[in-house]
Amino acid sequence: MWKIEPPLENRKGTLYIGGANTVELAEKFGTPLYVTDEGRIRENARRLIRAFKPHYSNFKLKYAIKANNNLSILRIIRSEDTGADASCAEEIKLAKMAGFEAHDISYTGNYNSSSELKFATNSNVIINLDDAAILAKLLKFAVPETISFRINPGVGRGKYSGLVFGGGKTKFGISAEDAIEGYSAAKKAGIKRFGIHMMTGSCVMEVDYFSEITEKLVDIAAQVKREVGIKFDFFNIGGGFGISYQPGEEDLDINALGKQVAQTFKDGTKKYSLGEPELMIEPGRYIVGDSAILLARVHHIKHSAKTYVGTDVGMNTLLRPALYKAYHQIFIANRLNEKSKQRVNICGQICENTDMIAEDREMPEIREGDVLAILNAGAYGFAMSSQYNSRPRAAEVLVNRGYAEIIRERESVSDFIIRQRVPARLMK
Ligand code: LLP
Repeated sequence: MWKIEPPLENRKGTLYIGGANTVELAEKFGTPLYVTDEGRIRENARRLIRAFKPHYSNFKLKYAIKANNNLSILRIIRSEDTGADASCAEEIKLAKMAGFEAHDISYTGNYNSSSELKFATNSNVIINLDDAAILAKLLKFAVPETISFRINPGVGRGKYSGLVFGGGKTKFGISAEDAIEGYSAAKKAGIKRFGIHMMTGSCVMEVDYFSEITEKLVDIAAQVKREVGIKFDFFNIGGGFGISYQPGEEDLDINALGKQVAQTFKDGTKKYSLGEPELMIEPGRYIVGDSAILLARVHHIKHSAKTYVGTDVGMNTLLRPALYKAYHQIFIANRLNEKSKQRVNICGQICENTDMIAEDREMPEIREGDVLAILNAGAYGFAMSSQYNSRPRAAEVLVNRGYAEIIRERESVSDFIIRQRVPARLMK
């Protein structure tokens, strides 16, 4: 039988999230439906802050908006005393709409356009550059007060190869040598405040890895300080804190991680006389990942060479299984107490072979009309969904102590055509 953990509950065989009955939610709001528990987001943010702040008080949590950019969710996260990291102009706008102050927003783009750099400069957010040569482009129209560079510390790690953003095979970050060049140019141009950043991979489950890379970043910062003669106001060690997706997989020990990183950071900054700069982290998944489930309705079951369970959740709704072969646990929300007894392929309704949410998954008997709950859908779930095959994107509901509110309406065909312009000659 399934192990059901908060924010999920098994009440007499029915799945609840945040005190709300998922089967009733599926009926009331339709499927596919993303359901997010507000309480869980708050707990996750608080747990993270508690893991670091007691060990290093000059600490800031910045939420990586790309993981889930729903405005209501951004507002919940903002109210937990956080900042935000934006990957583009649109995310800067969303952060401001959600009430984040400019000084709490950073902009970490890559291969930026000049117009986006201009927008970020005018927005007064902290600009974090992915190449020393981009600084020259930026300096053509402005001298920002603060600049930081994204370093590739030479190592990377991630749950899937596509999620490794540091080391040799990646388009991200710059070497220590290029950083020296970048910071020298910045100093020469009159920039006054400096930060240093890295983001080396996503969904990392090893505690020690984070202190290893923190040490590397501090070493590089010390080298830059020596060569260029600048002082760092902040260090951003990125996000990447993993959550467990597989049944039985152990959670990341975030308290041990925070303590260890803070200690490494204190030791390093002391060793190199770097002062007491702000320590930042920039997670997405850890805050929102397990706060949401995705509800699917089973519409048809085909028994051919294999058993295919066809639902209204496909790669258009949740791309991760198709893109990374990512594993998401799946429960039958309306019959939680049944035992596993068959292997099935659970798929969507899209015209692609990769449209598979789970392959060869051991499940109890599934019937047409059942509601399936796909777990850990809060990060990179809706955010990576599409309208492929002309499927409207899902609705989103927020639950809080049993109370459910719609936070994104389901799309309809009008959403496909709203920006289209058909030339008059084609209308004849
Ligand atoms: N900061 C930067 C600059 C990033 O690029 C990312 C994620 C984060 C922070 C947050 O990383 P997190 O804490 O969520 O690991 N689509 C993939 C994840 C890609 C992550 C991209 N960058 C997935 O579904 O697993």
